[in-house]
Amino acid sequence: MSDIYILGIESSCDDTSAAVLKNGVLLSNVTASQAVHEAYGGVVPELASRAHQQNVVPVVDQAIKKAGITKEQLTAVAFTRGPGLMGSLLVGVSFAKGFARSLGIPLIDVNHLQGHVMAHFIKESEDDQHCPPLPFICLLVSGGNSQIVLVRAYNDMEVLGQTIDDAAGEAIDKCSKVMGLGYPGGPIIDRLARQGNPKAYQFSEPQIPGFDYSFSGLKTSFLYNLRKWVEEDPDFVEHHKEDLAASLEWTIVDILMKKLRLAVKQTGIKHVAVAGGVSANNGLRNAFQDHARRYGWTIYIPKFSYTTDNAAMIGIVGHYKYLDGEFCPIDAPAFSKVTF
Ligand code: KG4
Repeated sequence: MSDIYILGIESSCDDTSAAVLKNGVLLSNVTASQAVHEAYGGVVPELASRAHQQNVVPVVDQAIKKAGITKEQLTAVAFTRGPGLMGSLLVGVSFAKGFARSLGIPLIDVNHLQGHVMAHFIKESEDDQHCPPLPFICLLVSGGNSQIVLVRAYNDMEVLGQTIDDAAGEAIDKCSKVMGLGYPGGPIIDRLARQGNPKAYQFSEPQIPGFDYSFSGLKTSFLYNLRKWVEEDPDFVEHHKEDLAASLEWTIVDILMKKLRLAVKQTGIKHVAVAGGVSANNGLRNAFQDHARRYGWTIYIPKFSYTTDNAAMIGIVGHYKYLDGEFCPIDAPAFSKVTF
């Protein structure tokens, strides 16, 4: 059988990324991030879309060059179809369609959330063996999603629970914003939290039944408490930012792990993975290590480079779909909202 070269394209939010895989092994993964949003404290959809337009051609070009192949060697083009920001998705979707058509090769649509979960199957070499056995439980935590997913196969995933309002990453980013710490808040909160006391402040935790999450109450509790403290001491954040970050992070990790423990208990599946941008968080990674020791879980934590949005994860789903002959028509629309 001839070699399978998949080009993956990701453009769902504010990262333009392209990757090339050969027979499921990653050859290149190039990502252009968008600093333009920092000044606004959050992603501005129109600016994101314009930046994708500027970045998509050079990023794809670089990914193909780095892979050491020519575009004519590509077997198929896989692209993120959704969920995400419509203006951002449209750039990647349109580019993928035009590129595949010009090369006369098939198109493969990929669900972004499925991509995050499948980041665990990205192989950097032929003998890379770190991927979880099926079935496993995956905590998927990103800027837009917080879900507990039961993964039976790459194309058979069941959402056991999910946030009923804000995502964990969104809550972290918003709390960081009200503290005036900058965007994106996740890495900043993570860094500060390492130097703070996680038990310094208490914030309200949600009482939601089942496996679902809620983070909007915590966000409000954080905001109201902060307002009160800043009224009493205008330099409160400056003096206590490490403790605030550590307490916020501790509360969010505690909420995430409680439901995850419940899902593991109920399903009896002790192979547990974490995925999505928030899985870069050191507090969450430590909690996973701690659960592995205490409860005998076998845990799977992705490399930092595959936690946030990247095209390697889109490429690996594309590879599996290619093997199954699952292609999409040229008129397949982008979806801003879609689950598994
Ligand atoms: O997966 P991702 O890149 O984008 C989405 O698909 O949403 O996730 C982005 C989210 C942001 O909320 C960002 O603040 C958060 O991941 N994040 C972190 C860390 N690094 C990124 N949150 C906590 N700790 C981190 N180290």
